[in-house]
Amino acid sequence: MREINLTTKIAVYPLAECSDIEKKLIAAAKHATEKSYAPYSNFKVGAALLLANGEIITGNNQENAAYPSGLCAERVAIFYANSVYPEQKIEAIAIAAWANDTFTKDAITPCGGCRQVLLETENRFSSPMRILMYSEEGVYVVNSIKNLLPLSFGDEQLKASK
Ligand code: THU
Repeated sequence: MREINLTTKIAVYPLAECSDIEKKLIAAAKHATEKSYAPYSNFKVGAALLLANGEIITGNNQENAAYPSGLCAERVAIFYANSVYPEQKIEAIAIAAWANDTFTKDAITPCGGCRQVLLETENRFSSPMRILMYSEEGVYVVNSIKNLLPLSFGDEQLKASK
């Protein structure tokens, strides 16, 4: 038997130490929570993407009485950006979540399904994406979804199987 130990490094920045564009992206994600449709969970998530052309695209979670038919903020934003700007690589994403009348104290981290879509997006544009996960107490930052999705399954694995 042998063991494989996986480690993940996450940088945690006080908001004040983020760059100006990162602050702008985080502010856009926070703002996007306001238009979330989350009558079932009351957990309002906002996502903001920085495209290579400098444009910021936002999205928020859209819930449904048939729960699985809803969609997370990250995927709403990414699918919209990719549908309008299929050639624009996405350089960064900021995520924020509002619940119980405040932004979350813990950093909002993407769900498993969104991690897979973030991986596909990085692969599609052959470019890693900086991920900024906001909390009132600091911003978790990684430079690629691969930091949050070890042993991932993507196009490389599909190719390798042929
Ligand atoms: N949600 C997101 O939009 N993004 C995440 O990263 C985590 C969860 C949404 C899905 C659902 O509408 C609500 O938050 C509660 O799970």
